[in-house]
Amino acid sequence: MANENVSVWTSIPFWRRSAAWVTGFATILLIWLTFDTLGQITMGTDADLKNGVTKRVPGATVINYKIGYEMSKERGHEVPTIGEKQPFFGKEWSEKEAADLLHLGKLTSQAKNCMNCHTLLGNGAYFAPDLTKAWLDKAWQDGGPLQGMTGKATVEEAMAEFLQHPSQYPTHARMMPDLGITADEAKGLVAFLKHMSSIDTNGFPRNFSKSVETFKAGGTHAH
Ligand code: HEC
Repeated sequence: MANENVSVWTSIPFWRRSAAWVTGFATILLIWLTFDTLGQITMGTDADLKNGVTKRVPGATVINYKIGYEMSKERGHEVPTIGEKQPFFGKEWSEKEAADLLHLGKLTSQAKNCMNCHTLLGNGAYFAPDLTKAWLDKAWQDGGPLQGMTGKATVEEAMAEFLQHPSQYPTHARMMPDLGITADEAKGLVAFLKHMSSIDTNGFPRNFSKSVETFKAGGTHAH
């Protein structure tokens, strides 16, 4: 006997149709998100930098510019800024040279497994400081304690010196071991760290500047 008062919630065709609509909508959303993400994470070019086009992941030649980190009221966290030109290891790098140097740095970071102790862009360990914004750590800037201890004039030279001989510069309670990093590999790694600091990571790691303040106030680097 047919029941005229069957509720829609018990109707099989209703659930079939709903399932088809939900699956269809989710598929379209995922395809759209995939293309949106690809656009967001695609690395910019040298021309973008020259024309002031802002990219979340700037081109390799960003190593030729001063990188800053400024609070954005709108977004509620800090955002990397690209400033004026600044020589990197005493020169300006062409697009090809910069890309090659960055590539060497990436390969070295994998070969030496920095992530075993550090975190890079959210991946890795917290045995040692997060390296995502290490380039912007004030302690490496303008005669800061990390720069000062190496006796080098620039951030890049100081970091490269530290990376080649970390056990000569114990700065925290824990020491980074010597990993047999060559001078060229160290240059590549510093380019890699500088480029990474210029990536817009939506403010991650959180409270980077605050932890740097505490770090300074802690006085472990007093010279
Ligand atoms: C075995 C663990 C370990 C590995 C592997 C390691 N580090 Fe470290 N690193 C440390 C520790 C611990 C410190 C903090 C102690 C110090 O500053 O002396 C440190 C400090 C640093 C700093 C200074 C951080 C700051 O405050 O700005 C940098 C830069 C750095 N490491 C880069 C690297 C890179 C690049 C690699 C890969 C090539 C690497 N580390 C591999 C343990 C490690």
